[in-house]
Amino acid sequence: MATEEAVGSERKRSALALFAGLERRYDLLSALLSFGQDPRWRRAMVAAVEASPTERVLDVATGTGLVARELVRRYHCSVVGLDQSAEMLAAARQTLAREPRLAERIGLVEGHAEHLGFADAEFDHLTFTYLLRYVDDPAATLAELARVVRPGGRIASLEFGLPEPPLWRPLWWLYTRIGLPGAGRLFGRDWYEVGRFLGPSIEELYDRWPLRRQLELWEGAGISDVRQKRMSLGGGVVTWGIRSE
Ligand SMILES: C[S@@+](CC[C@H](N)C(=O)[O-])C[C@H]1O[C@@H](n2cnc3c(N)ncnc32)[C@H](O)[C@@H]1O
Repeated sequence: MATEEAVGSERKRSALALFAGLERRYDLLSALLSFGQDPRWRRAMVAAVEASPTERVLDVATGTGLVARELVRRYHCSVVGLDQSAEMLAAARQTLAREPRLAERIGLVEGHAEHLGFADAEFDHLTFTYLLRYVDDPAATLAELARVVRPGGRIASLEFGLPEPPLWRPLWWLYTRIGLPGAGRLFGRDWYEVGRFLGPSIEELYDRWPLRRQLELWEGAGISDVRQKRMSLGGGVVTWGIRSE
């Protein structure tokens, strides 16, 4: 159950409400509405982790468990998937019930990225996906994520990006302001709302934290050798680095 403190901010409450209705069709629609790109981005992020079968990875904002499952498929490692949405986690559990070989390597916990209930350096590696737009203080959250990773462990993330002007940015803008809400509407009120929300939310992130400043954020959180890969004309950004000694 989310704590009073954790649900306190408007941003936090909105994120909890937003994902409470998306779980049923999330895996299909997230791929469809990104024209099949978002599974590619996720695979690129997982490739940056380079875990071994004996290692333990924390996947924060695991949602329906797409990254957690990809990590186990690729590395046969153990994964803890953490998310603040009980609804998204319920969908992750349902999928795992049909995939026992993945299920035996994945644990799911309800929790908050801002305050992880884990010891320092408890995990070998950590992944997080589409998270920083939903937290009030990305710098503090990143530091908290880095805290639970052992020195030398890898931290990798995926976030939407802003395609370059002059050609792709206006097309992206039209898609996020008209195409996404329109397509979302076909799948009900919740998907219409997320379709309307996404474009402004992505722009707000980059207004506050342009890519260059995000790199500084990572370094400030104790993550070194930070790299970024922009994919699909800049629509997806994979960032990864190494937890400093
Ligand atoms: C867009 S989904 C990403 C799900 C999945 N990882 C993927 O690959 O698509 C974002 C997830 O972040 C979760 N989330 C947002 N803010 C969070 C926070 N502060 N702590 C934990 N989970 C959070 C939401 O509940 C949602 O499931």
